[in-house]
Amino acid sequence: MTHLSDTARQTPAGALPTSMRAVTRRRYGGPEVVGVETLERPEPAAGELLLRVRAAGLDRATLHLLEGKPYLARLAFGLRRPGRPVLGQQVAGEVVAVGADVSGYAVGDRVFGTADGSFAEYAVAKVSKVAATPDTVRDVDAATLGVSGTTALDAVNHVEVAAGQKVLVLGASGAVGTLVVQLAVHRGAEVTAVCSAAKLDLVRGLGAVHAADYRTTQITDLGGPFDAVIDIAGNRKVSQLRSVLTPTGALVIIGGEEGGPMLGGIQRNLVAALADRFTQQRLGWLFASTTTAGCAQARGAGRLGSAPPAGRPSGGSGRGCCRARGDAAR
Ligand SMILES: NC(=O)c1ccc[n+]([C@@H]2O[C@H](COP(=O)([O-])OP(=O)(O)OC[C@H]3O[C@@H](n4cnc5c(N)ncnc54)[C@H](OP(=O)(O)O)[C@@H]3O)[C@@H](O)[C@H]2O)c1
Repeated sequence: MTHLSDTARQTPAGALPTSMRAVTRRRYGGPEVVGVETLERPEPAAGELLLRVRAAGLDRATLHLLEGKPYLARLAFGLRRPGRPVLGQQVAGEVVAVGADVSGYAVGDRVFGTADGSFAEYAVAKVSKVAATPDTVRDVDAATLGVSGTTALDAVNHVEVAAGQKVLVLGASGAVGTLVVQLAVHRGAEVTAVCSAAKLDLVRGLGAVHAADYRTTQITDLGGPFDAVIDIAGNRKVSQLRSVLTPTGALVIIGGEEGGPMLGGIQRNLVAALADRFTQQRLGWLFASTTTAGCAQARGAGRLGSAPPAGRPSGGSGRGCCRARGDAAR
């Protein structure tokens, strides 16, 4: 990371365009409400960086905020219409201006994490939600780590995945799941990965010892019990997830679509938290929150500098590196 003088860290405002193109939606809906607009370029406030966006990661939360579902989310993001028109949160970019009270970053630095509205030519990011992108890491890979990467790392930490454990990953072929599989394999766990038939080879290539199609296989037929279940998709009942855990096993609920338009399945989190009080099993859930420390840990855990390009199966044991699969676009 370069450290320049205060004067040098200020980009002359005239050097940047005053407007930018951005992917927006002015009302909640499907792809039909998405458009491209020319907007005023944002300015970084105190504690913020202005980034020239080099890659933006598409994650499930962005799709939820596009649709405004579950409706519960509208309490925070706009009841009748989206509070912020620009879509996107995961980002990798180059610092082009530095707000007041920011130290440790300079114009020209590459960073990744989350920003407000990353589907744009420029986006403002809080310093507390980004970390430096190593020279060896491509922006398209880094742009999948701010949410998907930090969530995956939080998940394996939450259930304390360790060498020799049997770990079940539900939703293993997605943005979060592919990273969870690799992190668990890297820790020496025996991973059983559940996803659609078309992606079984993908998860095996990431190091899963067993892989099963959720359309044809019940989780009770997967050779449990498991020391840990990381539940990223499928919205299975907590009782069903518990039935494949060892008596002292750990469950963490990350997410899952089809949980209903109002609450989006968050009810399961409450059931898990309640049941946790009456059993030796550890039953929990998490909502990941992007932080600089989390980004740095995800970057370090992934050792992305040695990873093959995103979207190409590594084919090996899965040890030694992680590659991000989430969709990112320049
Ligand atoms: N708690 C948090 O902080 C947090 C953070 C990030 C994401 N999330 C949530 O976690 C979930 C996954 O996010 P993501 O970005 O990884 O989504 P994603 O990329 O769409 O991945 C979901 C994966 O689950 C698989 N799947 C679908 N139905 C399944 C089932 N019944 N059983 C097992 N696997 C199934 C899908 O496989 P196919 O595509 O092959 O069908 C897909 O690969 C979302 O609900 C998201 O909102 C939560």
